[in-house]
Amino acid sequence: MSGEMKLVGLKKVFEKGTPNAKTALDDVSLHVQDGDFITVLGSNGAGKSTLFHAILGKFRLDKGRIILDGEDITRQKDYKRALNIGCLYQNPMRGTAPNMTIEENLALAYTRKARRSFFAVNRRDSAYFRDLLKELDLGLEDRLKTRMGLLSGGQRQAASLLMATIAEPKLLLLDEHTAALDPATAEKVLSLTRRVVEARRLTCLMITHNMRSALEMGSRTIVMDSGRIVLDVSGEERAHMTVQDLMSLFHARSGKEMDNDRMLLW
Ligand SMILES: Nc1ncnc2c1ncn2[C@@H]1O[C@H](COP(=O)(O)OP(=O)(O)OP(=O)(O)O)[C@@H](O)[C@H]1O
Ligand SMILES: [Mg+2]
Repeated sequence: MSGEMKLVGLKKVFEKGTPNAKTALDDVSLHVQDGDFITVLGSNGAGKSTLFHAILGKFRLDKGRIILDGEDITRQKDYKRALNIGCLYQNPMRGTAPNMTIEENLALAYTRKARRSFFAVNRRDSAYFRDLLKELDLGLEDRLKTRMGLLSGGQRQAASLLMATIAEPKLLLLDEHTAALDPATAEKVLSLTRRVVEARRLTCLMITHNMRSALEMGSRTIVMDSGRIVLDVSGEERAHMTVQDLMSLFHARSGKEMDNDRMLLW
């Protein structure tokens, strides 16, 4: 199993043929290597979430191909892709069952992929998650029997992250998953993210509006603008890059300032 993904010339025009036509993806190509952890930045409306929706099969592309682990999934139904692609959004309740306990939610996420009987989270997984939750210091480790709907936003996001990764997806997509949390909780969930992605060697794309964490986390950063990838930095170049450098480079490439109502520079 590999998380290698090739996006080839993706194009998506919403409301095509109307005066409101909007090119949300404009010839996007990206080669994601197995194990890459890519952070994704860009102004409001740049096409970041649309890129994720394309990968998840939420709509039909106008052009382009998506190849995941050597398989062309361009026309594969979204529910089939969901077996291989974990995702997490800003809203902590999306994708969880609020009336079920954390443990039941985890078991459900696990068995959906493994097609085993319902409560099949094995002891090793369970101990591993308990340890992670303990380190997180959000008081979650003793609340595996608590209903999901009763948790705080940060606790839910942490539990959702574990749900999204428990079945070891080929690819993990995080769309501003800490944007609705207070800064201290956001830091905790980001550090959990880093640990889970590393421990499970996941291939991950993470949209963020926090330029500092975009450069600090992962191994590669891409910046989108008007449906295109305008910057793609990694390796030595990225290792020495400051937020200011990134903003200057973006300006040099696009002729614009990076402008996001939620953009944080620190
Ligand atoms: N279902 C849709 N129908 C029509 N237009 C859409 C649809 N989804 C997205 N768009 C448009 O496509 C463009 C890209 O939107 P997208 O949500 O991908 O931006 P984004 O980079 O995620 O922005 P943000 O940082 O605000 O989340 C925007 O102009 C948006 O209005
Ligand atoms: Mg978005």
